[in-house]
Amino acid sequence: MDIEEILKNMTVEEKLSLIVGGGGLPKRVVGAAGETRAIDRLNIPSIVLADGPAGVRISPFRIGSSDTYYATAFPNEIVLASTWNLSIVEEVGRAIGEEARDYGIDVMLSPALNIHRIPLGGRNFEYFSEDPLLSGKIASAYVKGVQSVGVGATLKHFVANDQETNRMIINVVVSERALREIYLRAFEIAIEESKPWAIMGSYNKLNGKYAVQNEWLLTKVLREEWGFDGLVMTDWGAGDNPIEQVKAGIDLIMPGNDEILKKLIEAYKSGLLDEKVINERAKKVLELVSKSLTYKGHKPSNKPDLEGHAKIAYEAAVEGFVLLKNENALPIPKETRVALFGLGSYITVKGGLGSGNVHSRYTISIADGLKERGVKIDEELERAYTSHPYFEIFRNYTILLKRIYEESSKSSIEPHRFLPPIIERSATLAYAYFGAKAEIEIEDSLIEKVAKEDDIAIITISRISGEGFDRMPVKGDFYLTDGETELIRKVSNAFHKQGKKVVAILNIPSPIEIVSWRDLVDAILVIWLPGQEVGRAVADVLLGVVSPSGKLPITWPKELYETPAMRTYPGVPQYIVYEEDIYVGYRYYDTFSVEPAYEFGYGLSYTKFDYSDLSVMKENDKIKVNLKVKNVGQREGKEVVQVYVRAPRGKLNKPFQELKGFYKTKLLRPNEEENVKIEIPIKYLASFNGFSWVVEGGEYEIRVGASSRDIRLIGKVEVEEICFDKKWNKISC
Ligand code: BGC
Repeated sequence: MDIEEILKNMTVEEKLSLIVGGGGLPKRVVGAAGETRAIDRLNIPSIVLADGPAGVRISPFRIGSSDTYYATAFPNEIVLASTWNLSIVEEVGRAIGEEARDYGIDVMLSPALNIHRIPLGGRNFEYFSEDPLLSGKIASAYVKGVQSVGVGATLKHFVANDQETNRMIINVVVSERALREIYLRAFEIAIEESKPWAIMGSYNKLNGKYAVQNEWLLTKVLREEWGFDGLVMTDWGAGDNPIEQVKAGIDLIMPGNDEILKKLIEAYKSGLLDEKVINERAKKVLELVSKSLTYKGHKPSNKPDLEGHAKIAYEAAVEGFVLLKNENALPIPKETRVALFGLGSYITVKGGLGSGNVHSRYTISIADGLKERGVKIDEELERAYTSHPYFEIFRNYTILLKRIYEESSKSSIEPHRFLPPIIERSATLAYAYFGAKAEIEIEDSLIEKVAKEDDIAIITISRISGEGFDRMPVKGDFYLTDGETELIRKVSNAFHKQGKKVVAILNIPSPIEIVSWRDLVDAILVIWLPGQEVGRAVADVLLGVVSPSGKLPITWPKELYETPAMRTYPGVPQYIVYEEDIYVGYRYYDTFSVEPAYEFGYGLSYTKFDYSDLSVMKENDKIKVNLKVKNVGQREGKEVVQVYVRAPRGKLNKPFQELKGFYKTKLLRPNEEENVKIEIPIKYLASFNGFSWVVEGGEYEIRVGASSRDIRLIGKVEVEEICFDKKWNKISC
């Protein structure tokens, strides 16, 4: 495409029509999130954009067709981050890209990389971590995967959309240092390493201006300092002034409508919008279109490799489970008779609500997964759950949803224009509502009976959350319900009396309160919201077919209100102040000596690893960290090696330590050893002093460990003072 030539031939109205999305739901791919406008006269096609982080979200049914358009529900981003495994995340990205390609999607609206500032963040499951390095690196792997098949990826939501409460209007007040070191940093790393095609501006305001109307953010930082050359779009309906958006640096207003286009045309005519700016924005849209598969003439097969992708979804889920506790309870032999408690064992939650929801062909529940692997689960207990009216409600919702789609596909109405948002979201919302409250009570006598008959108890605790709402600091959400607490207590008593173990499985979008009940159980496995293959993955980890190797990408607080950001959360509708500044997550807990329930980077395995032979060298602009990791346990497993750096005391306040590198080993057999090499660019040591980036001179401690508080080896390295400008050019200090 000769973009300059095309621009010359376009009217200003045509250029503006490229800048404003097509509005409504895309016609070409039913249930996708949006599309750009075509200009037939110039052979410019419209391209299609679809959510989301856990897979391609489109409608599974279409009018007048009996074909289905299911997509694979992959593990959510919190699970991907818990793997700490860049290659598995890249594989997930590639599989998502392939499904997008096969369904005619040009640009994926993922990954999302906002920061887990508070455990209650309603979309935390769609975000990676509290740490910008882990977020940025995992996001890069995801983007590389998606884009390797010719589909674009979009980093979202830029920036500081870290809560759902008042997300459309709230003004996030945050220091430039915290912004640059934490909230922007994840995006900066992902842009530098993976060159995403697009970035999406968030709903919230940032230091007084809507992010999508914030010239400092979109033009100064993103374009001028970071040199981002992809396309910048709005979140759906973000901001309040399209003219300001275009001026500030937005190339594409989504989903767009004719009203907005009219406004922009008038603004141009009255001299409020410069043609030069319009040209620059339209050029970015043309560049995106020219890279797209649609422009290249690709015809969607509508036959993605769902079987192959299910395997990838399984692999990533298995690696993202985090074993918090294990007192000789796991793994279990195949012959074990399992008493399976909790509704979530029978209807396991695969993902969250809203735009991150994926229509998969199925979700394998934990019960189904165990049965498939030949494990005997207690049938009487199973009946007690599955014959309960609550269970019917869930089943009926699924059936109802399917019926509505089927019925409407026979008529000429286009149900997907209004139904998916309402039905799809209300079905899952109902699930959420009843799910938390569904205390299917199990008779004491049955608990006593199964404790005698079965070998082990597994209790699944499920929660769901989603776009538009934060989680709540109440029983049934962050806290257990009285019924759940009772159940754990009774099951624990009954099974322990028989000398049998109790395992808790946490099927949750982000942490819940754990300290009050964790001593009652022998093992705790966190599976988060791990996608459609959940049951199979859980079964294999319980059976020891695979050792758990996930580590927490967040700090698990003892008390919700010990989370530093809870001091100002949720703010008032008008604003929230990020008072904790750079002390987010472990940066706070470690610096101010607060004991978490489980620290950042924590996670157990069925085997043990020995760390040795650390060497740390500074070479040019890098710190090279070498060590050996050996499997000294009885089973195969993988280890996540983490490198934290502790800066010398200097002029700037610094966190106690910060994650600067990590590596996931290959699968190590007992006695097998791997040489681990981790490189840390010197610029990663820099802090922002208000004007520039400074690496203060002195002796840095290189702390290598299995978690942020399980440091196994410490090395030292002398670094001279170095300063960088905001574009990372070296300058004199
Ligand atoms: C969400 C985005 C999503 C968009 C399109 C918005 O409400 O915040 O994450 O990509 O909708 O569905």
